[in-house]
Amino acid sequence: MENGGGLSRRFIFGIGVLFLFSFLNVWAGPQRKTLKPLPRYWVVLPASTRAERSVIANFGVAIEEVTSTTVGGSCDYLTLSRLKQGNAKILQSWPIELLPKVFPPRDADYHDYGETAADLAALASANPDLASAYSAGPSLNGRSLWVLRINSEVKGNGASARPGVIFLGTHHAREHLSTEVPLLLAKHLVNQYAKDPKVKALLDSRDVYIIPMVNPDGVEYDIEQNDYRMWRKNVRDNGGGVLGVDLNRNYGYKWGTGGSSGNPGSEVYKGPAPFSEPETQAVKNFIESHPNIKMLLSFHTFSELILYPWGHTYDPVPDSRDRAVFEKMAKTMAAWNGYRPEQSSELYIASGDTTDWAYGERRIFAFTFELTPKSMSQGGFYPGAGVINGTFQANLEPCLYLISVAGDPYGVLR
Ligand code: ARG
Ligand code: ZN
Repeated sequence: MENGGGLSRRFIFGIGVLFLFSFLNVWAGPQRKTLKPLPRYWVVLPASTRAERSVIANFGVAIEEVTSTTVGGSCDYLTLSRLKQGNAKILQSWPIELLPKVFPPRDADYHDYGETAADLAALASANPDLASAYSAGPSLNGRSLWVLRINSEVKGNGASARPGVIFLGTHHAREHLSTEVPLLLAKHLVNQYAKDPKVKALLDSRDVYIIPMVNPDGVEYDIEQNDYRMWRKNVRDNGGGVLGVDLNRNYGYKWGTGGSSGNPGSEVYKGPAPFSEPETQAVKNFIESHPNIKMLLSFHTFSELILYPWGHTYDPVPDSRDRAVFEKMAKTMAAWNGYRPEQSSELYIASGDTTDWAYGERRIFAFTFELTPKSMSQGGFYPGAGVINGTFQANLEPCLYLISVAGDPYGVLR
């Protein structure tokens, strides 16, 4: 009895511990995972000037669609309630989960992280005299920011005296088409080198870098559940289950000076400090370690625009010659892809983006392309695989032009 009583006490204690553990587990579960985002919304608001659009951007809305009288974009629930408190006229607000999105099986032609990495590695190993594939640095969760370098003289991270160009894709997770275009560009350049004398002549005097996926963790998070989350940011755990820093608000030039948010839940959260994120650090370090880079193109979706600095101020870039180069190049490229060329801040003020840093800090001629489609109603971030090839074809000539003029950017003015 004595012994048995001890056993049963221990038994009860054991059950209690088990119970406590399973209870804690229920609690710890969502915290440990932290991968469930708080509610977010697609909102449409009236706005007809850049000043009105900048006010909305400043509230923390990620504006993605601009018409002459409205803006559309995504925001978290806190931003939505602040907009309501501020008496903003909200024309539409849709929980992001309810929006129509093409399902991943129908989008099999898009490349996830593993497929993108494998394609770049295969390109390099099939063309060892021309291309090399390596990591520009790890993402927050340890994935690689794979870069394909195309240079017939230098492989890997070695220095080159040739004028350099860098193409960047998918800072924003849901903008999957912005992986496809630079990936197809990599394939085109490598595969046409031996076939197209014009491509060969171009590449023989240039140093080309292509990073199709700057935000691999965000991409995998977006597609993780066999449905799209319409995710924008990286997956930084900001505490309390609030996820993500907007990588295109985290660059260090005039960081946090408008059009970004200090609220970790915001779609345009700038992060706790400039370059707080491993992904933006990797791009920064990469560019700084290749001072021959003269041109940069950052692919985003959607709206069909060609944007150039500044984005953080309505002022034009102060150097009038540089400004003329930006304008001339944007117009020239627009004639090929049919997109609208303009200074970024014409859209709305936003600070901490890639191109303001690249130009402001490094004097690189840096452009943002907002790819196809034009509007949310044409598919927004999820236009389906049918647009991939046409979008690449429309942007091939602008990409070749960027590579070409890197040798003498001011030559475009003659
Ligand atoms: N739509 C992109 C983004 O939200 C590009 C922003 C360009 N900059 C600007 N000032 N409008 O990051
Ligand atoms: Zn974007």
